[in-house]
Amino acid sequence: MPAIAGGKFVVVGGASLLGSHIGEQLLAGGAREIVLLDNLALGSTDNIQSLLADSRCKFVRGDILRLNELYDPLKGADGVFAVAGFLAAPIAANPWMGIDVNVRGMQNVLEACRYQGVKKVVFSSSVGVYGAVGEEPNSDDSPLRWQGMQPAVILYCASKIMGEGFGRFYQQQYGIDFLALRYSAIYGERLHKRALDATRMVDAYERVRAGQAPVIEGDGTGVQDYIYVGDVARANLMGMESQASGEGMNIASGVDTSLNRIVQLVIENCKSDLKPEYKDDPTKMKMPVSKKQGYSREKAKRLIGWEPQVSIEEGIGRLVAWLDRDRAASGAKQ
Ligand SMILES: NC(=O)c1ccc[n+]([C@@H]2O[C@H](COP(=O)([O-])OP(=O)(O)OC[C@H]3O[C@@H](n4cnc5c(N)ncnc54)[C@H](O)[C@@H]3O)[C@@H](O)[C@H]2O)c1
Repeated sequence: MPAIAGGKFVVVGGASLLGSHIGEQLLAGGAREIVLLDNLALGSTDNIQSLLADSRCKFVRGDILRLNELYDPLKGADGVFAVAGFLAAPIAANPWMGIDVNVRGMQNVLEACRYQGVKKVVFSSSVGVYGAVGEEPNSDDSPLRWQGMQPAVILYCASKIMGEGFGRFYQQQYGIDFLALRYSAIYGERLHKRALDATRMVDAYERVRAGQAPVIEGDGTGVQDYIYVGDVARANLMGMESQASGEGMNIASGVDTSLNRIVQLVIENCKSDLKPEYKDDPTKMKMPVSKKQGYSREKAKRLIGWEPQVSIEEGIGRLVAWLDRDRAASGAKQ
């Protein structure tokens, strides 16, 4: 399987939250050449400025809906991280584009990999492939339970199943090694507001820094599994180097955290004494709210040796520190 040190890797969707962290870890891991490919539909080169200072790393503007824009950047690549995708909120805003990118775009990436003889593809999937998890035991093999979910969320979840299906198809037909990593809600430095769950951290931060009480929807007891972005990037590199292929596995903390706890941690890290306000906005799009998620991490540990290292307490500390730095830098620019 492709070794990171000395290899060439392409991060498709390289200007994203996750892609920028994968790029950072590839540099630290001694990769010879790194291409960050992105059409900047959602991501930004602000995320990767510091990486581009290293001559091993370059940015290529390319669109995964145009197969011809993928051939040259993928030439000689040992492995590809297929990160580009539309989350549920961008799909709701532009369903044609979102489904095209997540499904046909993923097929184009695989096709370009086949043409260029790329050895392995690690795909950014989602625990959304299980849908609304409910109270049933939740393993890496649970089926999609989509009843009751909002339509754009169903489309997102189904598009990730299609992406996984294409990956397995290319593995079976053409022997390209393939892994699907199913992330829970990613957060950390360079967090954006496209993800429905982790956005609540940034919303709470912005309210607190503006001197306003953070708002909690519902009673705040609904839980989510939040996973620190650096841990997710590390899983991508471990997945690339592992012998595992043709598998999908959760990349999740395995810890359920309530919205009440998230907001409390943001308040504490902002050193504020504001108290949250409880309000509901029925018009707002939401991921299913559950009282229990309990995602298994067993398969990732067994197949690629991955376990998370950053707790929610430490991760929110890092996020707030980054948001403060970002705020200070944008204040300085004005
Ligand atoms: N953020 C999360 O909580 C989360 C959870 C589960 C799964 N995922 C998946 O992980 C991946 C990364 O998530 P993220 O939050 O870093 O995403 P993001 O929204 O920051 O980035 C997606 C990237 O894809 C790029 N892109 C979109 N269309 C493209 C096209 N046609 N050609 C080339 N690039 C294109 C965007 O410009 C952007 O940089 C996504 O596939 C997402 O679905 C994310």
